[in-house]
Amino acid sequence: MPEIHRLSPNATRLNDDFAARLIRWHKRHGRHDLPWQNTRDPYRVWLSEIMLQQTQVATVLPYYRRFLDRFPQLATLAASPVEDVMALWSGLGYYARARNLHACAQAVIGAHQGKFPGDPDVIAGLPGIGRSTANSIATFCFGAQAPIMDGNVKRVLCRAFGIEGFPGGAAVQKRLWVLAGELMPKRDGATYNQAQMDLGAMVCTRAKPRCDACPLADICVARATGRTAELPERKPRVTIPQREATLLVLLHEQRVLLEARPPAGIWGGLLSLPELPVGAKASEWTAQRYACRVITVSPAPTLDHAFSHFRLRISPLLMDVEPRTVAMEPGLSWTALDALANAALPAPVRRILEALHASGSKPLDSRKR
Ligand code: ADE
Repeated sequence: MPEIHRLSPNATRLNDDFAARLIRWHKRHGRHDLPWQNTRDPYRVWLSEIMLQQTQVATVLPYYRRFLDRFPQLATLAASPVEDVMALWSGLGYYARARNLHACAQAVIGAHQGKFPGDPDVIAGLPGIGRSTANSIATFCFGAQAPIMDGNVKRVLCRAFGIEGFPGGAAVQKRLWVLAGELMPKRDGATYNQAQMDLGAMVCTRAKPRCDACPLADICVARATGRTAELPERKPRVTIPQREATLLVLLHEQRVLLEARPPAGIWGGLLSLPELPVGAKASEWTAQRYACRVITVSPAPTLDHAFSHFRLRISPLLMDVEPRTVAMEPGLSWTALDALANAALPAPVRRILEALHASGSKPLDSRKR
């Protein structure tokens, strides 16, 4: 038996009690009015679960609304070009999510006759959907009783049960899944799963948890042993590498040269500013690779951007240029500065171009989305 049964002297029914406490708490204190709640439409729930991965509710809300305005049904999404999906995802980060979302919509249309499957194992076989997301969708939409395991749930479980070790590591992760399976109630799975996420987001927060408002306070091992600040354990420190990139802002008659990023790698599938290869000289490279005569070159302020596994310091170089040819190779486009609002740009590239506008240099409309 898992050690949860040994946690408290009156823990004979701890599993039921744990879920019951959360469900009761959620009824009074949980979130009930988020736009992806109060629906069993798997398209809406799936979209929200993908957007909410590594992303806060407040950030997701406007993206979610715009996305559904543009793609009201799964079939609309599947039938649209992936570039349109990328454009609506622009700024939300982790762009593989958007590419997978599109691939998943097409898989549901192609392999499941347009009907989102209800079996968690089948859902987990779709592009971009892991075990936890599959179980979330299955509980929220199809009445399954299947546990979830996102960052909030891990924090709640590690603290409540005093689980040591980094919860992202394979061994602890395995243990957490076993525990989550034990704790899963026989009914009300949707409320229970939402309650864990809400408790993690609102009460059992990473910093300054509000233990006085927690329905698990009297059975929480971390609280009883004064270790809420230490649990869950942080990822063992590895120094995050810093990379540098020079991005070329080639300007000609109120237009900027954009280049599609290759599908794999950072910003895959988005439009970006051309990147200067290490060791190349900006004006020579621009002349050679982009067939432009360089008129002026001026550096713009650097900016830092954090990816999940490295930091990128971006040095933009503003260059007024004169293209020597009108023929453009695929992937390159001269885009009007006032038509950038809806382009699929990564957030830091958008910031560079917006700063350019703020400095009075060129007009750049605010986003019209
Ligand atoms: N994070 C992931 N799924 C969520 C949900 N349904 N509600 C709030 N935050 C979430």
